[in-house]
Amino acid sequence: MTASTTDLPPPPAEDRHRPSLHIHPRHGWLNDPNGICRIDGRYHVFYQHNPAGPVHEDVHWAHVSSTDLLCWSDEPIALAPRPDGPDSGGCWSGCVVVDDGTPTAVYTGARSSSQDAGVVLAYSDRALRAWTPAPAWTVDTPDDDAISDVRDPFVFTYDGHRYAVQGAGHQTGRPQLLLYGCDDLAEWVPLGPLLTEDDPTAAAVAGANIWECPNLFQLGDRWVLILSLWRDHVLSGVRYLEGDLVHAGAGLRFVARSGGTLDTGPSFYAPQILVEPDRVLLWAWAGEGAERTSEDVGRAGWSGALTLPREVRLEGDTVTLHPARELVGLRRERLGLEAGALVDAVAFEAVSRSPLRLVLIAPQGERTEVLASGLGGRLLVDGSMVEYFGPETTYTTRAYRPADHRWSLETEGPVELWRLGLGEPDS
Ligand code: FRU
Repeated sequence: MTASTTDLPPPPAEDRHRPSLHIHPRHGWLNDPNGICRIDGRYHVFYQHNPAGPVHEDVHWAHVSSTDLLCWSDEPIALAPRPDGPDSGGCWSGCVVVDDGTPTAVYTGARSSSQDAGVVLAYSDRALRAWTPAPAWTVDTPDDDAISDVRDPFVFTYDGHRYAVQGAGHQTGRPQLLLYGCDDLAEWVPLGPLLTEDDPTAAAVAGANIWECPNLFQLGDRWVLILSLWRDHVLSGVRYLEGDLVHAGAGLRFVARSGGTLDTGPSFYAPQILVEPDRVLLWAWAGEGAERTSEDVGRAGWSGALTLPREVRLEGDTVTLHPARELVGLRRERLGLEAGALVDAVAFEAVSRSPLRLVLIAPQGERTEVLASGLGGRLLVDGSMVEYFGPETTYTTRAYRPADHRWSLETEGPVELWRLGLGEPDS
């Protein structure tokens, strides 16, 4: 499934596009990361998964865990749709909170359609292996019929109280973020919208029909909101807003100051964060590129990967993403730039201070540019996963190298090149 040390045979050598270090399914479909948490010293990442095939259907929560963020072990599937249950149409996105010591998944139970979805709770042991989902929605679809497509609960704490937000749409075609008080996780109190497009910054930066997969957290002295944009049936990227969270009546309101694009690449959606004492980590769904046909995906048998873990920082007013500090632990030997060096390494990292270009070269010399940055930065490539971290942008894309093509890495200055891989197995 991943950079796993347990259970499963290594990925077939013939699948050049399969990453070796990124969380992804051995077989089947992956979309959003869910339920990210660290419990008793172990990181847990869940993801939207169809084990039956590489299509978005009958979505489960798959589960992997790690102690070091490098080496991931497969865990049993955590949540599966229950026929006639509150999640019969899919166990959609959500988070995990520890409620009085009990790890609790707070997720979207979809029934017949995305309009017919509520919040479901599921309780687990502390290894997150034995889940008991509740028999019914804890939070129904809102009474207000004008509000539609409510999903993706995210729980946070403010001023000593626990709250949740859910993304939503509205009959007017404009997005909403709905707020609930949930000091008692079993009794949610609707508190109206936390944010709508009446906020001019939100309207300018994060226009959408539905705000999906909200994340709300404190970074330095600011509050940061991350929103995935569903617009005209198209997944339209991820924006952040930074600003203040203030009391408003019985609820809260998010007042945006500024915002921007979290990652400018085409394969970055539905990120989820994990707040740690000294940093905020983030993973996102890197969907397959538009050039990959459904026949290609069907043949490969799997679709989608998560990004490598990233650290979220605030630099002035700008929210930036950086490779998690642990990732230097993936560096094995240094490579030279000679032809073939990059092809022989399934995964590599380039670090440069000068302009950086990654190109695929056909046998007759035809060039396909995968990435061109006028500035230096860090570039991590693993199978078809390409992640670039530069001083001005972060860019996630997918690149499918035909067997007779080679990578070419071009810079105008010195470059440090590493083969990436795993060291000693996780215990
Ligand atoms: C985002 C999303 C979520 C939903 C999930 C379903 O990619 O549409 O809003 O909960 O995927 O798999």
